[in-house]
Amino acid sequence: MRTIEWRDGTVVTINQLKLPHETELLRLKNCDEVAEAIKKMKIRGAPLLGAAAAYALALVAYHSKAKEKKRLIRELEEAAEKLRRTRPTGVNLFWAVERILNKAYAFHGNTKELAALVVEEANRIADEDAAANRSIGKYGASLIMDGDVVLTHCNAGALATVEYGTALGVIRAAVEQSKKVRVIATETRPKLQGARLTAYELKRDGISVTLISDTMVGYIMYRRMVNKVVVGADRIVRDAVINKIGTYQIAVLAKEHGIPFYVAAPKSTFDLAHTSAEVTIEERSPEEITCIGSERIAPESIAVLNPAFDVTPLNYVTAVICEDGILYMDDLASLKPARLAQNEQE
Ligand code: MRU
Repeated sequence: MRTIEWRDGTVVTINQLKLPHETELLRLKNCDEVAEAIKKMKIRGAPLLGAAAAYALALVAYHSKAKEKKRLIRELEEAAEKLRRTRPTGVNLFWAVERILNKAYAFHGNTKELAALVVEEANRIADEDAAANRSIGKYGASLIMDGDVVLTHCNAGALATVEYGTALGVIRAAVEQSKKVRVIATETRPKLQGARLTAYELKRDGISVTLISDTMVGYIMYRRMVNKVVVGADRIVRDAVINKIGTYQIAVLAKEHGIPFYVAAPKSTFDLAHTSAEVTIEERSPEEITCIGSERIAPESIAVLNPAFDVTPLNYVTAVICEDGILYMDDLASLKPARLAQNEQE
């Protein structure tokens, strides 16, 4: 099963808060339920949020009682606004909402046909994400050698996307090419996507994975226990990669130790019209820091900072792997692959 699917007028997805202990399927029936699932992080990961937002608009269109196109467009716009208020940093959600709305604005026909078009476009967004990840995997695998130990942060796997994953897609593709790859996954405080989701996904697929705390990255690099880093992205802007909090310190450490730092992301994550200063970094609740699970560990009324993402300037990034190929920094502006995977060149 894909991480998200359209089934008979509902959206079926996995409640990621219950993993790895329980695989609970959610059957979401309207836009409010999708928006709530996004806010609570039952659904998370930038590309998955793009597909989820598209499907939320598909739910609105599919179940609408509107008789006029103008009315249906209004309902879609109201739903779009709700979705935009869920999580501010990952760009895929905003990209998908704009794409669906633009499709609807340009459409001439009745409301039933428009609803069908919106569902079709949402399915297309999901299909394209799945295809992009396979392609990212293919290009990215050319950078991974037999015997590599790859560090990844957060979860940029099948669970963060429609299927296969971005950073974990690269690792999966390398393993499918029979390369022996071992993965080191950071736990990723405070939401523990590494410990709960990356460890679960890789273990389930029989890929060697070792879990470390976020504080161990410097030590294992110093000891040469890792020789590549591959992470995903929530938004790639003109001057930086915005990704899960903790990514920047890993990139700085990688540069210090001469370890390549790769970012794997589809073009739907690119936002080259903006710079990092223009992006809102989501600030999440203090309880994520003051507590571990339900247990409070910090004193009452302590001041807390909890940005969910950080900013890695492009000079720390060796290359970005997207569905078109491998992009080195100078190519980002034009979105042109500087070097295609070996098998493409031959
Ligand atoms: O807060 P999350 O879990 O939605 O953040 C996800 C990440 O930061 C991932 O590393 C990123 O989205 C890449 S997902 C392919």
